[in-house]
This record gives sequence, C-alpha cells and structure tokens, in this order.
Amino acid sequence: MDKKNLLNICSFIFLFSAISLFAVTSNDAPKSSTYEDECINCHIENDIMPEHFSKSDIHWQNGLSCAGCHGGNPNETDEEKAMSISNGYVGVPDKKEIPQFCGKCHSDLEEMQLFQPRIPTDQVSQYYVSTHGKQLKLGNMDVATCTDCHTTHDILPASDTRSTTYAINIPNTCDNCHGNSELMSKYNLESIQVAEYSKSVHGIALLEKLDVGAPACNDCHGNHGASPPGVISISHVCGSCHVNNMNYFNNSTKAVEFSDMDIKGCEQCHGKHLIHKTNDEMISVGEASTCTECHSEGDDGYIAAELIYGKLKKLSSLYDSTKVVSEKVNIMGMNNIEIEYSLKNIRQNLIQSRTLIHTFDTSQVFEKTNEGILASYGALKLADNEIAEYFNRRLGYGVAIFILILLAATLYWKIRSL
Ligand code: HEC
Ligand code: HEC
Ligand code: HEC
Ligand code: HEC
Ligand code: HEC
Ligand code: HEC
Ligand code: HEC
Ligand code: HEC
Ligand code: HEC
Repeated sequence: MDKKNLLNICSFIFLFSAISLFAVTSNDAPKSSTYEDECINCHIENDIMPEHFSKSDIHWQNGLSCAGCHGGNPNETDEEKAMSISNGYVGVPDKKEIPQFCGKCHSDLEEMQLFQPRIPTDQVSQYYVSTHGKQLKLGNMDVATCTDCHTTHDILPASDTRSTTYAINIPNTCDNCHGNSELMSKYNLESIQVAEYSKSVHGIALLEKLDVGAPACNDCHGNHGASPPGVISISHVCGSCHVNNMNYFNNSTKAVEFSDMDIKGCEQCHGKHLIHKTNDEMISVGEASTCTECHSEGDDGYIAAELIYGKLKKLSSLYDSTKVVSEKVNIMGMNNIEIEYSLKNIRQNLIQSRTLIHTFDTSQVFEKTNEGILASYGALKLADNEIAEYFNRRLGYGVAIFILILLAATLYWKIRSL
C-alpha cells in the first residue's frame, strides 16, 4: 500500500470519528430547534443542570422549559435578572408546595387544553383526598407527592414503557416507600404489599406474563386518590374487572350479612394483595374452605357448601371423562364433532357455575351444574355409540375378509383341480 492511500484512509477515519463524536455530543445539547432559552443555555454552560434531567421529559418535549415551572425570564442572559422575583421567578418549591406548583398548569383546563384536550385536570383535587395528600397538608414529608411518583425532571406519560407510572413499573414506584419497613412502621403499616402482590395471580399476570389487563396498585387504589378502598367499595373495585362476580355477590343475601358484620366483601375470602388462583376446595367443608370460618356443621351455609362442592366435583369429573372418551373416538377415526361441541358447552357450564357460587344460592348454582351434567351424559352416550359402531365395523370387516379368503381358496382349488 503506498503512502498516499494510507493518508487517505487515515483522514477518512479521522473525519468519521469527528462526525460521530459530534453526533454523540450534540445529542446531549438542548434541542435548540424547538426553542432558544437563556435558562438552559446558562445552566448547561455552567454545568448546573438538575440531577436526573432528561430530554425525553414530556415538558421539555412540549417546549415548556425551566421557566414554565420555575418562573423567571427565559430571555434574560443576566443571571440576577433572569431569576428575579420581579420576573416571576419562584425558585425551588418546598415539598409541601409541590401539588400547587404542578397544579398551576395541571388544574387549569384552559392551559392544558392548549396541549392535550383530553388530559384530565383533577390530579391535585384527587391528590388532596388521598391519604398522601391529607398527610402532606398536615406537614408529613414522608408521604408521596407528585414528584415522588412522576420524578421531577424526567417526567414521562404513563404510556411510555420507561415511565415510573407505566403499569409494569408502578409496583416498584410504590415499593420505594411501601417496601421500607423502617418508614412504614412509623405509621403502623406493614411493608409487604408489593412482595405479596408480586406472588399473587394479579402480580404474576402483570409482572411475569406482561398482561397489562391485570391490576397494578393504582387500579385498585386510584392514581391520585390512593387510600385503602373502603369496606363497601371493595367489591366495586374488584368488580370493575370481575363484573359477574360483583353482581352476583352484591345481589346476594350474603352481601347484606357481610355489611352488617362490617366484613370486607371479596377480601374476606380472597385476600387483598396475595390473591391466589381459585379451586373447588375453597367451597368445600375441608381444610381449604372459605365457608367454615363462619359456618359450622348443620347450619344452612355448611350444608350449602357441601352440596355445591359435591355438584362441582361431579360436573368436573364428568367433564374429564367426556374429554378422555372424545379423544378415544378421535383416535379411532370416528365422528366426534358433536361430542367436541358438547365438551365446549360443559366447560362453559363449569366456568359459569364457579362464578355463580357468588350468589350463595344452591338453586341458582344447580341450575347451571345440572345443565352441564345432563350434557355430559348425552356426550358420553354419543361416544359409547361411536365406539360400539367402530367395533361393529371391525367385526363386519373381519367377516367380510374371512369370506373373501374362503372364496379365494375355493377359486384356487377349482383352478388347481382343472
Ligand atoms: C446566566 C446564567 C443563568 C441564567 C440565565 C439562569 N440561571 Fe438559574 N442558576 C444559575 C446559577 C449559577 C445557579 C446556581 C447558583 C445559585 O444557587 O444561585 C442557578 C440556580 C438555579 C436554580 C436553583 C435555585 C436553588 O435555589 O437551588 C433554579 C431553579 C434555576 N436556576 C432556574 C432558572 C430559570 C428558570 C432560569 C430562566 C428563567 C434561569 N435559572 C436562568 C445561572 C443561571
Ligand atoms: C415540571 C416542572 C419543572 C420543570 C420543567 C423544571 N423543574 Fe426544576 N424543579 C422542579 C421541582 C418541583 C423541583 C423541586 C422538587 C424536587 O427536587 O424534586 C425542582 C428543582 C430544581 C433544582 C434544585 C434541585 C436539583 O435537583 O438540583 C434545580 C437546580 C432545577 N430544578 C433546575 C431546573 C432547570 C435548569 C430546568 C430546565 C432545564 C428545570 N429545573 C425544569 C420542577 C421543574
Ligand atoms: C407550565 C405548565 C406545567 C407545569 C407547571 C407542569 N406541567 Fe406537567 N404537563 C404540562 C403540559 C402542557 C403537558 C403535556 C400534555 C401532553 O401533551 O400530554 C404536561 C404533561 C405532564 C404529564 C404527562 C401526562 C400524560 O400525557 O400522561 C405528567 C405526568 C405531568 N405533566 C406531571 C407534572 C408534574 C408532576 C408537575 C410538577 C412537578 C408538572 N407536570 C408541572 C404542563 C405543565
Ligand atoms: C402515588 C403516586 C402518584 C402521585 C402522588 C401523583 N401521581 Fe400523577 N399519576 C400517577 C399514576 C399511577 C398515573 C396514571 C397511570 C395510568 O394512567 O395508568 C398518573 C397520571 C398523571 C397524569 C396524567 C393524566 C391522568 O390524570 O391520568 C398527570 C398529568 C399527573 N399524574 C399529574 C400529577 C400531579 C400534578 C400530581 C401532584 C398533585 C400527581 N400526579 C401525583 C401516580 C401519582
Ligand atoms: C414517597 C414515599 C411514598 C410513595 C412513593 C408512595 N407512598 Fe403511599 N404512603 C406513604 C406513607 C408515608 C404513608 C402513610 C401515611 C400515614 O398513614 O400517615 C402512605 C400511605 C398510603 C396508603 C394509605 C394506607 C393506610 O391504610 O392509611 C395507601 C393506600 C398508599 N399509601 C398507597 C400507595 C400507592 C398505591 C403508591 C404507588 C402508586 C404509593 N402509596 C406510593 C409513602 C409513599
Ligand atoms: C386487587 C386490588 C389491589 C391491588 C392490585 C393492590 N391493592 Fe393495596 N389494598 C387493596 C385492598 C382491598 C386493601 C384493604 C382495604 C381495607 O382493608 O380496608 C388494600 C390495602 C393497602 C394498603 C393499606 C395497608 C394494608 O396493607 O392494608 C396499602 C399501603 C396498599 N394497599 C398498597 C398497595 C400497593 C403498594 C400495591 C401495589 C403493589 C397494592 N396495594 C395493590 C387492594 C389492592
Ligand atoms: C384491572 C382489572 C382487575 C381488577 C381491578 C381485579 N382483578 Fe382479579 N383478575 C384480573 C385478571 C386479568 C385476572 C386473570 C389473571 C391471570 O390468571 O392471568 C384476575 C384473576 C383473579 C382471580 C383468580 C381467578 C381464577 O381463575 O382462579 C381472583 C380470585 C381475582 N382475580 C380476584 C380479584 C379480587 C378479589 C379483586 C379486588 C380486590 C380483583 N380481582 C381485582 C383483573 C382484575
Ligand atoms: C364467601 C366467600 C367469597 C366471597 C365473599 C367472594 N368469593 Fe370469589 N370465590 C369464592 C370461592 C369459594 C371460589 C372458588 C369457586 C370454585 O372454583 O369452585 C371463588 C372464585 C372466584 C373467582 C374465580 C372463578 C371465576 O368466577 O372466574 C373470581 C374471579 C372471584 N371469586 C372473584 C370474587 C370477587 C370479585 C368477589 C367480590 C365481589 C368475590 N369473589 C367474593 C369465594 C368467595
Ligand atoms: C364471614 C362470615 C361468613 C362466611 C365466610 C360465609 N358466610 Fe354464609 N352466612 C354468614 C352469615 C352471618 C349468614 C346469616 C346467618 C345464618 O343463616 O347463618 C350466612 C348465611 C348463609 C346461607 C343461608 C342463606 C342466606 O344467605 O342467608 C348460605 C347458603 C351461606 N351462608 C353460604 C355460604 C357459603 C357457601 C360460604 C363459603 C363460600 C359462606 N356462606 C361463607 C356468614 C358467612
């Protein structure tokens, strides 16, 4: 390789590095294409940008710079003048003032509509109804305020997967404080909510299966009104997703009995944070029963639990047998279309019966289970017929083949003797 070529390659590498370096560093500079602003210029020059500042911040993205929140005159190059009270500079708010500080815009419908017509403007009023808000007003600085959940200079909409308020990240956001046992013991609160939640049917669905249809903390506690759902509202909280369970329960006499006894609806039998997958044993009179805590041998509730459990067991074992014979019919190559169809219905009956137990009314549950049991008998009979038909055909084939062989043999004999 001659000298000239080497020089060319070297200068190319130099140019390329310079361009990449420029691209990398210019990425850190403010997006001056959106706006020019002396607050930012001077703060960047003096390397006094706030900690954790990020340009993906939604306010930055919308062209709301430092002065939008902190006030002052963003066109002044002089530090004193830019950050003077006469120019509306408010500086850094105390924790107690943060809700109004953010509420300056977020409670102002006209201001918010300029940017996003659909964005709600009730965060601050909701916040002051929550335990956090009430406590902050009383001067408790341990509670969460806007910036504890949203960050201060790296605020992202909840739809952004990097956001502290994105469904999958919320348990972590709450855990910063609610998992701190020292902090929580000050308020006589446990610090296990997130740990328990993570092991629950909801936590596994959200955090492991990434199913955002499963509730995160805020779906049961509210985004801004975070307080424990009251005794009466628990079934509504759960019922926002489990609609049928709520309706059956609320229309049952049990709902009245529970509220008279100050018992917390769904929570009594399912728990609150460590909610598990359910099973039929929960409505038996055995170890795992949720009924025997209040009902004892001989009373109406005990008898109902025993009867319902019996029926559910019968239906589920009939479902299993039907499934087995349907498979068998299929392997034999016989017609199992109708059996498969029944099987789907029986499964539906079983699912619906398990939801219907929330009426705590044997007649309503039995109506559904009996439908399933009858359908199972029907399907089993169909399967029996198909299996019998199969063997009949096999017998038929056997006889036919025997006759054919006999014929062939006679024919052979005949030819030989000729
Ligand atoms: C010419 C430079 C300059 C300009 C322009 C400027 N600042 Fe500053 N700012 C500083 C310096 C230096 C500090 C840190 C020294 C201090 O604490 O006073 C500071 C501190 C701050 C602080 C923290 C104050 C505190 O109490 O900790 C805030 C908030 C702030 N500036 C916001 C703004 C806003 C908003 C603007 C535009 C309206 C602005 N600055 C314009 C130089 C500037
Ligand atoms: C969405 C509103 C908002 C915007 C926009 C904003 N700040 Fe702040 N800033 C706050 C709040 C609230 C605090 C105090 C609470 C805290 O520290 O969490 C604060 C604190 C500060 C502080 C002191 C604490 C620290 O972290 O160093 C400085 C300095 C500061 N901001 C500078 C700036 C600068 C410079 C900009 C523009 C690049 C800016 N802020 C944009 C809301 C905002
Ligand atoms: C100067 C007015 C103003 C102030 C002050 C302000 N915001 Fe905003 N905020 C906006 C605007 C405008 C948007 C953009 C709306 C949009 O496009 O979604 C926004 C967006 C947001 C979003 C995202 C909303 C979404 O789309 O899901 C959050 C969260 C947020 N702000 C929190 C805060 C917090 C916390 C504070 C106080 C530290 C604060 N804001 C202070 C004007 C403001
Ligand atoms: C305890 C945590 C928490 C606190 C405190 C909190 N937020 Fe939020 N915020 C959330 C969650 C969670 C969401 C929404 C998540 C979603 O939509 O799935 C949210 C959503 C928002 C939105 C988007 C619009 C909406 O209402 O859904 C804005 C704007 C907002 N918050 C501003 C604020 C302001 C202003 C404060 C202080 C008054 C505040 N938040 C306090 C957790 C909090
Ligand atoms: C900055 C710390 C902090 C963060 C973050 C936080 N909390 Fe809290 N929260 C507290 C403190 C401290 C209390 C206790 C206040 C009291 O009882 O006086 C509390 C109280 C509560 C209560 C009321 C408990 C009761 O029985 O009185 C609920 C519910 C709650 N928080 C839910 C949440 C949820 C949900 C999140 C996340 C979206 C969250 N918190 C994030 C600090 C925090
Ligand atoms: C499926 C609904 C649901 C979810 C999800 C949920 N909670 Fe709860 N939470 C409740 C119920 C119900 C209560 C109890 C209310 C009562 O007994 O009065 C409660 C109570 C609380 C309390 C009060 C103290 C206690 O332990 O009783 C805190 C704090 C709390 N939850 C935080 C959280 C946090 C943090 C998360 C997220 C990991 C979360 N919750 C998720 C339903 C839920
Ligand atoms: C935001 C919607 C939502 C809310 C609110 C909610 N759940 Fe769920 N729940 C789900 C989803 C989705 C699943 C299925 C999770 C999975 O298995 O993938 C589920 C599963 C369950 C299961 C297990 C069902 C089974 O097949 O065994 C029970 C029990 C349950 N939830 C009870 C509750 C109770 C009690 C509450 C109120 C304290 C509640 N849920 C609040 C969405 C919700
Ligand atoms: C008195 C106890 C009790 C109460 C109260 C109760 N459940 Fe259940 N729940 C059960 C039992 C027992 C099962 C299991 C049924 C089975 O699998 O045979 C169950 C099953 C479930 C299932 C899974 C089966 C299905 O329907 O998908 C969900 C979801 C559920 N319950 C939600 C709720 C909700 C929501 C509430 C409040 C509105 C509630 N439960 C109130 C005892 C209760
Ligand atoms: C927290 C206590 C409690 C639990 C748990 C409980 N019950 Fe009850 N139940 C009552 C009370 C109180 C009554 C009314 C007094 C009575 O008749 O014994 C009642 C009555 C009944 C009755 C009579 C009809 C009616 O509604 O008045 C049936 C049936 C019944 N319960 C079924 C069940 C079943 C099934 C379970 C389990 C899935 C269950 N109960 C769990 C407290 C409870």
